[in-house]
Amino acid sequence: MFVTFEGIDACGKSTQYNLFVNMLKEKKMPFIFVREPGGTKAGEDIRKILLHNDYYLSYKTEVLLFVASRAQITKNVIEPALNKGMMVVADRFMDSSVAYQGYGRELGSDAVKSLNNFAVGNCRPDITYFIDITVDEAFRRMKLSKKNDKIELEGKDFFQRVRDGYFELLREEKKRFIYIDGMKSANEVFDQIKEVFFRKYV
Ligand code: TYD
Repeated sequence: MFVTFEGIDACGKSTQYNLFVNMLKEKKMPFIFVREPGGTKAGEDIRKILLHNDYYLSYKTEVLLFVASRAQITKNVIEPALNKGMMVVADRFMDSSVAYQGYGRELGSDAVKSLNNFAVGNCRPDITYFIDITVDEAFRRMKLSKKNDKIELEGKDFFQRVRDGYFELLREEKKRFIYIDGMKSANEVFDQIKEVFFRKYV
């Protein structure tokens, strides 16, 4: 089984992903976890280029790099693990490119989806948790944490488009996409995630 976590920056995705991974450890379920972009040596190098602040990458270059890193991790890590029957948990995957580059950067969702298809073939998540917060809440949280990589320096309009993009994906892929209300406390958010996981998939 392949599980991915998605959402706009500061949605609490990484906290939930860690809680989820700890739960799998406690239950002794065999799994691996991967981080996008990155997760392979080549991918980590690509990540450094992407998050660098010293030079300008065109939006097309940016999406191609995200997708390149994804092609590498899919072939080298995700597919072999799935073929061995292990669970794979990913902090972001193909939907991030559709939401951020397709909608946020306005490259178009169809173009980004076909790049994704080329990169991952038929390797698709079984469950995608979309942890949703409002853009105002994301900005409030980002100010508190003072994180500012390249993408986090974008304005509210950009994040609104990204969030709208996730809602579009939610409408398109009702079976795979699971809406999670991220405005609640971390524990309450995790309860929603667990509930879906145990009801539908275990
Ligand atoms: P990440 O380090 O996962 O940040 P966070 O913990 O905030 O999710 O991702 C870094 C940034 O890269 C984040 O702003 C989302 C963005 N991103 C894209 O724009 N496209 C993509 O395909 C991926 C995987 C990430």
